[in-house]
Amino acid sequence: MVLKDVKPLREDLPFGVIIRGMTKEQTKDPAIRRQVNELFYKHGMILFEGVEPSSDMQVALSDIFGPLKEHPVYSVARVDREGKPGVVEIAHNPEDTGIVEFGGKQVAHWLPWHMDHAYNGELNRAGVLRPIKISKDGGLTGFCDGVALYKAFPKDLLEELEGKQIIYTLNTLMSEMRFGLPDGFREISEKPGAREMYEASRDQPRALHPAIWTLPSGERCLHVSPWMAEGIYGMENKEGDALLEDVCQTINRVAKSQSYWHKWRPTDMAIWDNCRMLHAVSGHPADQERKVQRTTIKGDYGLGSFEPTEQGEKVLEVAFE
Ligand SMILES: [Fe+2]
Repeated sequence: MVLKDVKPLREDLPFGVIIRGMTKEQTKDPAIRRQVNELFYKHGMILFEGVEPSSDMQVALSDIFGPLKEHPVYSVARVDREGKPGVVEIAHNPEDTGIVEFGGKQVAHWLPWHMDHAYNGELNRAGVLRPIKISKDGGLTGFCDGVALYKAFPKDLLEELEGKQIIYTLNTLMSEMRFGLPDGFREISEKPGAREMYEASRDQPRALHPAIWTLPSGERCLHVSPWMAEGIYGMENKEGDALLEDVCQTINRVAKSQSYWHKWRPTDMAIWDNCRMLHAVSGHPADQERKVQRTTIKGDYGLGSFEPTEQGEKVLEVAFE
């Protein structure tokens, strides 16, 4: 048995598929699991429509792609630390801070293009995201494929980036963001907990990930996260910073035509390949509530590392508290 209700995410985009009406029973079927994994690796992301809106279904869907792993940042809110490791909650309440301004508008919970866990030597393979509380306005999640970015990127920039590693830290403070900021950007109020995370991360080794890598399929992938990027390894100077800023602004520009922005419905869930795709959040009016839950699926591309320490050894994994 295979799933029949499968269609492209959008006809004009080279990535993503939509699977409609998958049931919890189907998540256990070996043939369907194989089919869904093949679709995932080929297309980079899957939007599941019309699924049971429950935590159990989210975990059952996630299990198709690999075991869940614990989120490396201990302070990130968990749904249930004991029963469901790896399910984290991201919420904005009307009284919360974490507001930014750009393009003449103020929004809450805006996130620039990024990959999850870039600040770690190991990425997570994927995450299944599900909406719990959908804001009336905004609150869209954006997805942009690194393979599509590579194909659309200016050739001279790709040549300059080839072989470079990007340095990342757990710096989620928008006022400290160094690359790819939108025009007229300013932080109005800090996200709760971001300052503490930033201070704690200063003592941790910095993570390194390749700017460009080759998928097992042979496709080349541009995978640079403007959020949390600190610089180019071995090129932390004016020239390197200018190159990274050019790359991040080009990602913002190219993504305008190469991305998909999803307005959530209660019965939607989405998974994206975190080793290949970038994602972002549009932001929403600060007086509206928004809540999502995300699983953390283990599985890495094996190309990340931590900066060598003074002793010349590499730290393999680190948990930020
Ligand atoms: Fe994210």
